[in-house]
Amino acid sequence: MKPSVVVLTGAGISAESGLKTFRDNNGLWEEHRVEDVATPEAFHHNPELVYRFYNLRRAQLQQKEVYPNPAHQALAQLEAELGDQCLIVTQNVDNLHERAGSKRVLHMHGELLSARCQRSGRSQSFTAAFDATTPCGCCTPSGTLRPDIVWFGEMPLYMDEIERALSSADIFIAIGTSGQVYPAAGFVQVARQYGAKTVELNTEAPTRPDAFDDYRQGPASEVVPAYIQTLLGE
Ligand code: APR
Repeated sequence: MKPSVVVLTGAGISAESGLKTFRDNNGLWEEHRVEDVATPEAFHHNPELVYRFYNLRRAQLQQKEVYPNPAHQALAQLEAELGDQCLIVTQNVDNLHERAGSKRVLHMHGELLSARCQRSGRSQSFTAAFDATTPCGCCTPSGTLRPDIVWFGEMPLYMDEIERALSSADIFIAIGTSGQVYPAAGFVQVARQYGAKTVELNTEAPTRPDAFDDYRQGPASEVVPAYIQTLLGE
């Protein structure tokens, strides 16, 4: 029988695609303190900076040199083999899993290529730059668009679906995440509590070795394809 697999991904899986991680750069995200660009307070006090920051991130994501790496591709292959027994829960706001071919992806921290109307709460796909003057297109009079990102202090998305998937997972794999931000950092315990085998794939040695049954150390582009091949061969 095919195993049920939940994969949690973090910034490390996209590092080799040219997107910087958060905590590998002295706590700065693209030269900015997280508090200055990724909190509701920052958006309230300095919306221009926050719009500009995410407009740049959105443009960067669409540059031709940013593309999925073999780790994203291996996870797409896993889904192709396991179908709806495979779910990716990502903390990443990039679209590299989808571009690699994965369809069952939950973006628990939102998405860069999306905008949210503050009046209706509706999210819409948005690839261009926008700011407080951009019409939302869904309300009259127009609502104001904000980046469709879950900021610090806001509630992550899809928690019910994630909890359901964790409760029936046979294998939980955490890839390229530092495990410092909750609730994602607690998923390994939840999965294990429900009986899943837990595996960590990261360039660094595990910071919480007791939380995982197994780990592979190395760059995602190497360890993820190798691990997925082993898993599919079992
Ligand atoms: N391959 C595998 N792992 C890697 C690679 C790589 N090439 N490069 C870095 N890593 C690992 C690092 O060792 C680290 O454990 O990826 C992890 C990146 O950690 P963070 O920068 O903290 O990213 P993440 O865990 O995704 O952050 C969680 O915090 O800032 C918020 O909302 C933001 O979603 C983000 C959340």
